[in-house]
Amino acid sequence: MRVPVDTGEQMRQKIIDLGILDKEHRIISEDRYLYIPLVRYTEAIESQLDSDDIEFGERAFESTVEGPRSLEEALEDKLSVKELGYLPRAYDLIGDIAVLEIPDEIRDHAEAIGQAFHEIHPNFSTVLAKHGAIGGTRRVREYEHLHGEDKTHTIHTEYGFRIAVDLAKAYFSPRLLQEHHRIAQQVEDGEVVVDMFTGVGPFAIHIAGSSESTVYAIDINPDAIALLEESISMNRLKGEIIPVVADASEYVPCNFNHNVDRIIMNHPSGAAEFVADACTAIHKGGMLHYYDFLGGENPESSVEHKIRQLVGGAGRRVSQVRNVRRVRDSAPYEYQLVTDVVVH
Ligand SMILES: C[S@@+](CC[C@H](N)C(=O)[O-])C[C@H]1O[C@@H](n2cnc3c(N)ncnc32)[C@H](O)[C@@H]1O
Repeated sequence: MRVPVDTGEQMRQKIIDLGILDKEHRIISEDRYLYIPLVRYTEAIESQLDSDDIEFGERAFESTVEGPRSLEEALEDKLSVKELGYLPRAYDLIGDIAVLEIPDEIRDHAEAIGQAFHEIHPNFSTVLAKHGAIGGTRRVREYEHLHGEDKTHTIHTEYGFRIAVDLAKAYFSPRLLQEHHRIAQQVEDGEVVVDMFTGVGPFAIHIAGSSESTVYAIDINPDAIALLEESISMNRLKGEIIPVVADASEYVPCNFNHNVDRIIMNHPSGAAEFVADACTAIHKGGMLHYYDFLGGENPESSVEHKIRQLVGGAGRRVSQVRNVRRVRDSAPYEYQLVTDVVVH
C-alpha cells in the first residue's frame, strides 16, 4: 500500500488494527511516500481505509526476518546433536572462495553444509571443501565443490598485493600471510633473492612489491609459474621478478655462484634435501630462510640444530641464527618452523 508520508503513520495504525500489516517485511520510505507491506489485499479493506490518497500494487520489500547466524542454527533440523558437534568452526578465505574442512563423521552432509554456509556468508562466490591431504611434489590437494560458482581460480589480496591462485593446480595457503610480509620487510634495495620453491609466488610478489630487488622465483610446477606471471601483470612492482620453471636442485647450482644475498626455502616437507644446492649460491654473509616440519619437546632447538648440520654438511657454516619461530601448527604435536640464518 502506498500512502503519502504525512498520513503514513495514521494509515499504518489503521492497518495494524485491521491485522493486515506484514511484519516480516520492512516499510519503505521513498519520494515522500511510504510503501507498507500487507499480508493480503481485498477491496473491502480499501473501502474500510476510506482514503483517496492510497494506492495498492506489487513491489519487493526487504525481509525483517534474520536468517540463521551460525551453521548449527541453520542445520539443527538436518543433523543430529552429535553431528552438529562436528561442524567446522573456522574456514579459509582465498579471494572470493571459502574453503571448509568437513570431518569424515559428517561428510554425508557436505552439500547441505556448503549450502547453509553460503546462505550465512552470501558474499563468497564459491564454497569448497578440502578433500584429502596435501601431497605430491606440487603440494596440491583435491577440493570438492559444495556450493556457488564451480571454480578454483581466484584473486587473493595480501597487504594490497593481488595474487592469482588456482587451488586445483598449485599450492597456496592464506595462513602464510605474515611470513610473506615478514621476509619482504627484511629485503633491501639492490638485493638478489632466490625463492627456491615459489609456488604461485607470494614471497616474490611481496618482496618485489616492496623493494628494488631482483627475485628469481623458481618452481617445478609450470601451472604455479603461469599463475605468478598473471600476478606480475596485476601488480605495480618496484623490483623485478624472474619466473623460472625448473627443478631447483638443477637450476640453482648451474645459475648462481656464491652471488645471492638471500634464499627462501619454503618447502617444509622437502627443503632439507636442497640446502647443499642453496649453499652453492649464497654468498658469505648471505641469509637463508629455512622452513621445516618438526615436533618433539623443543622443535625450535631441533630446527636450529638441523640447519647447522645441513649447512655444515655442505662445507659452509652458520655464523648467526637471527630468528627461530613457529609459523603454524601443521599436525597434532607438529609445527611448521622457520629459521633465518646467516651463512659464512
Ligand atoms: C609449500 S609450496 C610453496 C609455497 C610458497 N612458497 C608460498 O608461500 O605459497 C612448495 C612448492 O615447492 C615446489 N617444488 C617441489 N619440488 C621442487 C623442486 N625440486 N624444485 C622447485 N620447486 C619444487 C612445489 O611445486 C610447490 O609449489
